[in-house]
Amino acid sequence: MSISQLKFGHQNLNSNSIHPVNLRFQSSHIKFKLATTRLHSSTSASLTQPLVPEDKIRATKHNLSPNINRLFDFLPGRSWWDLGEEDEADMVKTDNPVTVWYVLQRIWRLVADDKLVIYIGLCSLTVAAVSEICIPNLLAASVFAAQNGESLVLYKNLKILTFLCFASGICSGLRSGCFGIANMVLLKRLRKTLYTNILLQDVSFFDREPVGNLTSRLGADCQKLSHIISNNLHLIVRNTLQGTGALINLLTLSWPLALSSCFICILLCMIFLVYGWYQKKAAKLIQDSTAHANEVSQEALSLVRTIRVKGTETKEHERYKRWLDKLAFVSTRESVAYGLWNFSFSTLYPIILGGMSILAGHASAEQLTKYVLYCEWLIYAAWRLADNFSSLLQCVGASEKVFQLIDVLPSHQFSAKGVKLQKLRAQFEFINVSFHYPSRTKTPALDQVNISIQPNEVLAVVGLSGSGKSTLVHLLLGLYEPTQGQILIDGHPLKDLDMRWLRENIGYVGQEPHLFRMDIKSNISYGCSRKLKQEDVERAAKQARAHEFICSLPDAYETLVDDELLSGGQKQRIAIARAIVRDPVILILDEPTSALDAETEYYIQELMMRLKNEEKAILFIAHRLSTARAADRIVVMDQGRVAEMGDHETLLSQNGLYARLHRLQNNNCL
Ligand SMILES: Nc1ncnc2c1ncn2[C@@H]1O[C@H](COP(=O)(O)OP(=O)(O)O)[C@@H](O)[C@H]1O
Ligand SMILES: [Mg+2]
Repeated sequence: MSISQLKFGHQNLNSNSIHPVNLRFQSSHIKFKLATTRLHSSTSASLTQPLVPEDKIRATKHNLSPNINRLFDFLPGRSWWDLGEEDEADMVKTDNPVTVWYVLQRIWRLVADDKLVIYIGLCSLTVAAVSEICIPNLLAASVFAAQNGESLVLYKNLKILTFLCFASGICSGLRSGCFGIANMVLLKRLRKTLYTNILLQDVSFFDREPVGNLTSRLGADCQKLSHIISNNLHLIVRNTLQGTGALINLLTLSWPLALSSCFICILLCMIFLVYGWYQKKAAKLIQDSTAHANEVSQEALSLVRTIRVKGTETKEHERYKRWLDKLAFVSTRESVAYGLWNFSFSTLYPIILGGMSILAGHASAEQLTKYVLYCEWLIYAAWRLADNFSSLLQCVGASEKVFQLIDVLPSHQFSAKGVKLQKLRAQFEFINVSFHYPSRTKTPALDQVNISIQPNEVLAVVGLSGSGKSTLVHLLLGLYEPTQGQILIDGHPLKDLDMRWLRENIGYVGQEPHLFRMDIKSNISYGCSRKLKQEDVERAAKQARAHEFICSLPDAYETLVDDELLSGGQKQRIAIARAIVRDPVILILDEPTSALDAETEYYIQELMMRLKNEEKAILFIAHRLSTARAADRIVVMDQGRVAEMGDHETLLSQNGLYARLHRLQNNNCL
C-alpha cells in the first residue's frame, strides 16, 4: 500500500464527510480503518528510518487482515448482512404484530364484499392446476402407447389431453381475470380507507408525519400490498396444488424416492424461514427509504425556486442520494440473499439423477419418463412457491406502516357529537389558556392568556413574530386543544361544540393562503355549505378588491389557478373573498394585509368596519400597527403572554411594548 493510499485512508477516518449510509459497514470498516491509521503513523515514522523485516511482516499482516476480515464479514449472520435499525422515530405504534395471517385477515375484510370474484378465481385456479398436473402422466402414456402401436389407447389419451388443455387454458384465463379484478378492488379500498383516515387525523398528526412520507404510503406501499392478491396468494395456491399433484404421482411411482424429495423440500422450507425473515425486514427498510426519498424530493421540487436562488442543487441532490444509497445498500443485500436462496434449489436436482439410477433396471421406460417429468414439476412448484412466499413476505413487510396508519384513531372531533347552538352570537373568551404544540412540549406557545371579544367588536392582535398570535387563532379554530384553561364561545366550552358547524360560521384567512388547483370561482366557494350563485361569488370578490384582477385573467372566474400562478397579494384577496362569501359570524384574519398594497389594505380595513356594524366579531392579526389603530381593542402579545391590552391611544400613553413597536415602525428613535 503506497503512502498516498494510506493517507487517503487516514483522511477518510477523520473526515466529516463519512456518508451516513456507510456507517452501516461500521464494524468491518472501522477495523480496516484503524489498521490503516496505525500503519499510516508507523509509515510516517519510517520516512526517516528504513523498515526492518519485523516491521515489514507486521505491516503485511495489517495489510492482509482487514481484507480477510472483510471476507469473513460476508459469511451468513456477519456484519455485511446487517441491514441496520428501522427508523422508529416517526412510527405510529399499534398493538397488533404484522404477521402473514394478520395481513391476510385485514385484506379479506377489505375485499369481503366482492368475495364472489375471489371464489370464481379460486375454482378456476383449482380446475386449471388439476388439469395441468394430469398432463405429464397422459403425455408419457400417449408417447409410449404410440411406440407400442396401441392406437386405441393413444386416441383416448389424446382426446383427454385435448380436453385438459382447453380446460386449463380457459380456467387460467378466468383465474387471471378474477384475481386482477380482486387486486383492483383491494387497491381502491385500501387507498380509500387510508386516505380517509389520514384526512380525519388531528392537525398535530401532520406536524409529526411528513407529507412525502404519507403520499408514499398511499402510492407505492398500497400498490405493493395489493400484489398479495393479484400475484402472491393465487400463485401460492396454484403452486401448492401442482406440487401436491406431482408428489402424489411420484408416490405412486416410488414412495421412498417421493419421501426423500419431501425431506429435501422440508429442509428448504427451514432455510426459507431464515431467508423469509431477512426478506421481510429488508422490504420494510426499502419501503421506509423509498418514503424518505419521496419526502425529500417532494419538498425539494415544491421549493425549486428557493433552491435555484440559493444555488443548493448539489446539497439537495446529496440529501436525495443519501436515501437512494440506503435503498441500494438494503437492495444489494436482499438481492444477494435471493441469489443464495435460489442457489439452494440446485440441491434438488441430484435427487432426480439419484432416483433415476435407483429406478434403472427396476422400472419401465414409461415409469422412468413419468418420474423425471413429475420430479421436474415438484422442483419447479417448490421453487415458485418459495418465490411467491418471499414476495408475500415483502408485501407483508411493506404493509406494516399502511395498517398502522389505517389503525390510528381519527380525531375525536369527528366522532364526538358536539352541540349546535341555535344562534351564534360570536362572543368568545380565552380563560387562563396555556398551550404548547405536541411536538414542542417544553416551550409554551401560549401562557395564561385571558382575552375576550364581543359581537360587533374588532379586536387586533399585534406582537413580534413567534409571540403566539397565530396559535391563538389555531386554538379558536379548534385545530389544537389548550393544554390548560378553556375557550368559551357564547358561554359554551369550545370542545363541547360541533366543530363542523362552528367552522362553517367562521371566516378564516390564513397567514399564507393557499389555493387549490381549480378555477377561481371554485376556489372562492371552496368549503361553503350553501349553494352559491355567480353573483354571490362576484360580490365577495368585489368586497375583497379581487374582482378587477380576476376579470383581467384569460377566463375570468373560470381561470384555472394554483398556488404558483398568482402573486401573494392576489392569493390573499381570493382568500379574503373565500372567507366573506360564507357570510361568517366571526371573521378571523391572520395578517391579511401582509402582501397587500396600501390601497387594497385601506379597502380591507373599510370592509372590516362594515362587517363590524353587521354584528360580526372580527379578530385580526396585524403586522402593521397602522392597521391595528382602527380596532376597538388591541392585544399586544409577547412570548405567549398578553403583555398589554387597550385601544391605540391608551397603549401609546402606557409607553410599553406597543409604544416601542409603534415608534420603531414610524422610524422614530427609541
Ligand atoms: N406546528 C407547530 N409545531 C411546533 N411549534 C410551533 C408550531 N407552530 C408554531 N410553533 C411555535 O409556536 C410559537 C408561536 O408561533 P406563532 O403563533 O405562529 O407566532 P406568531 O403568529 O406570533 O408569529 C413559535 O415559537 C413557533 O415556533
Ligand atoms: Mg403568525
